[in-house]
Amino acid sequence: MTSREPRVGERMGVVTLVGGGPGDAGLVTVAGRDAIAAADVILTDRLVPRAALAWARPDAEIIDVAKVPGGRSTDQAEINRLLIEHAKAGNDVVRFKGGDPFVFGRGGEELVACADAGIEARVIPGVSSAIAVPAVAGIPLTHRGLVQAFTVVSGHVPPGHPDSTVDWAALARSGSTLVVMMGVRTLDAIADALVDGGLDPATPAAVVADGTLPSQHVVRADLATIAAAASEAGVGPPAVTVIGDVAALDLPGLDSGHDP
Ligand SMILES: C[S@@+](CC[C@H](N)C(=O)[O-])C[C@H]1O[C@@H](n2cnc3c(N)ncnc32)[C@H](O)[C@@H]1O
Repeated sequence: MTSREPRVGERMGVVTLVGGGPGDAGLVTVAGRDAIAAADVILTDRLVPRAALAWARPDAEIIDVAKVPGGRSTDQAEINRLLIEHAKAGNDVVRFKGGDPFVFGRGGEELVACADAGIEARVIPGVSSAIAVPAVAGIPLTHRGLVQAFTVVSGHVPPGHPDSTVDWAALARSGSTLVVMMGVRTLDAIADALVDGGLDPATPAAVVADGTLPSQHVVRADLATIAAAASEAGVGPPAVTVIGDVAALDLPGLDSGHDP
């Protein structure tokens, strides 16, 4: 598939960041679906619902800029360049991203790059895996009488690492449900830091991998043993870890694998 050729004097296209939700195409918003259906060019990520690309026009150009951990990747500068190049050629461009574009999604950087290049750009929010993945596993992040706050934190840079800016001891004292993203491989160090910070090692925890997908997998344990339990179960990314009393709840979630 190729995008149409730019015409002389044609207006510049608009860039729309579309949040794709956690993986089930049924969780893309109606506005997101409409933007995909109207786009000339679509730049997709790895964790988007692939089935949603069936909504694209047959003549739309679909460019996979997936960033595979440890594998093939397109760097952010190249993605920004592609967004600007296609929009300048008069194409309406959708940047299709996993979850919500502004939650660990680099969506802000892409909007700034477009603005700097004089390209009109906007964002259509998505259902973030931070909230939706626990939900489909039957775990609410707040629950009356149990907890009144939640904190979403990246586990990409582990506690104690020179680049870490997260105060894990403060999180341990926060009284909020903790939602750790990008933290499967660092879960051991995170659990240790939280226990060192004063969080009870018996605090319930759950790791939800491939949330909303047919391969969804939930591992439950206490904080002291969650990393070992996840590793024993062979859990890998993408996964969200919930730490707090709500992680012991097992409410009705969502049947995964909706058709678009
Ligand atoms: C780079 S962040 C992007 C987050 C995304 N913008 C969002 O709002 O969901 C990728 C992380 O999101 C989480 N994630 C995304 N999709 C997931 C899924 N289907 N199941 C579990 N975790 C998921 C994992 O923690 C993963 O490492």
